[in-house]
Amino acid sequence: MSSCDGQTKTSAARVLTQEELDRLGSERTLVSDFKQMKLEKEAQKNWDLFYKRNTTNFFKDRHWTTREFEELKACREFESQKLVLLEAGCGVGNCIFPLLEDDLNIFVYACDFSPRAVEFVKQNPLYCPERCCAFQCDLTKDDLMENVPEGSVDVVTLIFVLSAVHPDKMKLVLENINKVLKPGGIVLFRDYGLHDHAMLRFKSGNKLGENFYVRQDGTRSYFFSKEFLAELFEETGFQSVANDYVLRETVNKKEGLCVPRVFLQSKFTKPGQSQSS
Ligand SMILES: C[S@@+](CC[C@H](N)C(=O)[O-])C[C@H]1O[C@@H](n2cnc3c(N)ncnc32)[C@H](O)[C@@H]1O
Repeated sequence: MSSCDGQTKTSAARVLTQEELDRLGSERTLVSDFKQMKLEKEAQKNWDLFYKRNTTNFFKDRHWTTREFEELKACREFESQKLVLLEAGCGVGNCIFPLLEDDLNIFVYACDFSPRAVEFVKQNPLYCPERCCAFQCDLTKDDLMENVPEGSVDVVTLIFVLSAVHPDKMKLVLENINKVLKPGGIVLFRDYGLHDHAMLRFKSGNKLGENFYVRQDGTRSYFFSKEFLAELFEETGFQSVANDYVLRETVNKKEGLCVPRVFLQSKFTKPGQSQSS
């Protein structure tokens, strides 16, 4: 997909057409409890199989991380400060390697629950243990402090990861990252937003719950409203700094259409003094 228009930041959710509203409203049947439990049990396996099929070829490098998240640079209190970053749910490293290339003064912890994804990160020619530490971790149940010292991280990035987690377990992920984040540290979040084109394309039989769907390959996707996300972070003790929808028209070459993409881009902080101040 390529962008056919600029992107717009907005605080209001995308307004649906009547046809889109009807389509969303007509999907009342949810996937059975049995299948939902199976999907939850096999979440890690399904993502690992995703990387077996796609290897490192599926996601594009996310060069926008530094471009759009100017905060990353602004996170430094002084220019020569080394930043410690945790990329939670790193996949094969599409976010971290462009960052490591761009910014020499950064140390990156990167974790994912797919062993294959972590292996791909470690095999990347840009991976070096002096600047990066990749490890396997299920963010909903494995304590991050087994690999990352408590309160040591300046910035956590959560990029298209929380949407893959069951909504009942999202809070566990935030509690886990909260422990390794420094007081004053920040979480940069970007993920699927409510009424994104992908949400409207799911066929009946793929709905798991409100704003929550399963793809053909068994991986799941939640579509976030800003209110839901803010409540989730605030309940875990974070403060909201920014929380906006990003609207973008992209060309879907297969469908020959310009389609409306919606992402939620947000920033939360852990209250308290930063250790260096
Ligand atoms: C859409 S990919 C995004 C990867 C990467 N952040 C990026 O932007 O390219 C979602 C990733 O989240 C990982 N993931 C999903 N649930 C997880 C969990 N409970 N713990 C750790 N990683 C998880 C998946 O294995 C997958 O690599």
